[in-house]
Amino acid sequence: KRPAGAPDKALAKPVTKVGIIGAGLMASQFALLFLRRLQVPVVITDLDQGRVDKAVAGIRSEIEALVGKGRVSDDEGKRLSALISGTVDKADFADCDWVIEAVFEELGVKQQVFAEVEPHLSETAVLATNTSSLSVEQIGAKLAHPERLVGFHFFNPVAVMPLIEVVKTPQTDDATLATAMRVSKDLKKNAVITRDTPGFVVNRVLAKLLGEAMHAVEQGSSFEDVVAAQRAFGFPMDPFVLLDLVGLKVGAHVLDTHHGAFPDRFFESPALHELAEAGVLLEKDAKGDPKGI
Ligand code: CAA
Repeated sequence: KRPAGAPDKALAKPVTKVGIIGAGLMASQFALLFLRRLQVPVVITDLDQGRVDKAVAGIRSEIEALVGKGRVSDDEGKRLSALISGTVDKADFADCDWVIEAVFEELGVKQQVFAEVEPHLSETAVLATNTSSLSVEQIGAKLAHPERLVGFHFFNPVAVMPLIEVVKTPQTDDATLATAMRVSKDLKKNAVITRDTPGFVVNRVLAKLLGEAMHAVEQGSSFEDVVAAQRAFGFPMDPFVLLDLVGLKVGAHVLDTHHGAFPDRFFESPALHELAEAGVLLEKDAKGDPKGI
């Protein structure tokens, strides 16, 4: 039986080439996952050739590391390395049927990168955004075809975390949604379809947990006590290590978005903004000082 809200699987479009917009850490993690699971060409783009080259080299060395650990055979390693490429020319996305963005978490930036790439795409291409808390509908507001945009929200570390939130806007059509569900399955992830509400489902819960941990520190609790208190509940990571993993800038942004949408229920965290600006990590070293200072 089809889960509630899931479209007819037969509508899913084949994905024979993947385009990734952005050449940061998250984009590289996506590239590796798509290469390994879909075994199709993956092209990665950014504004700057240097960033693109660095990302492609980084992905190839990750593949070599997997070969070194015996996780991927020599032959497969060579094949995967040949399947990844980089470009600054959006015209190279013409034959991509799945295009996912992993650029900075800012509405204008995400709107702009999609607007730049859309004219180069085939009519059947699906666009996916990895936003963690922006409105997917607003991200698609400048698209000629917002019906082929879907939210596709991964979690860190991308290779390990089993969940993807597939976010349906009022415009997302069934073929787009069915393709996103098929891609999730091919990536061996569990997908949940969520509505396009701030924070979708996961970050509503996580922003509460991490935001309250920061707020407790701002109100005078020590980092150590907050960690010890949360440890009692068996979470796999302490809240501050998890914030480091998410990235403090992204974490602060997620809290701001939730506070903006639900001001009576979520706090902003000025301390998190300051720490993000200072470029420190919250995880402590053996002496109890924050690592990275
Ligand atoms: N990158 C890639 N792989 C990693 C990794 C990383 N950063 N960290 C761990 N792994 C892999 C390991 O290689 C290992 O793989 P194998 O089993 O194949 O060897 C596997 O994960 C388990 O690793 P460990 O046994 O060393 O570690 P663990 O048991 O402590 O688990 C963890 C690690 C899965 C990351 C666990 O700590 C965890 O689940 N943490 C919570 C993560 C989480 O909540 N993420 C969501 C963040 S929110 C977000 O990302 C999105 C947002 O919108 C803000």
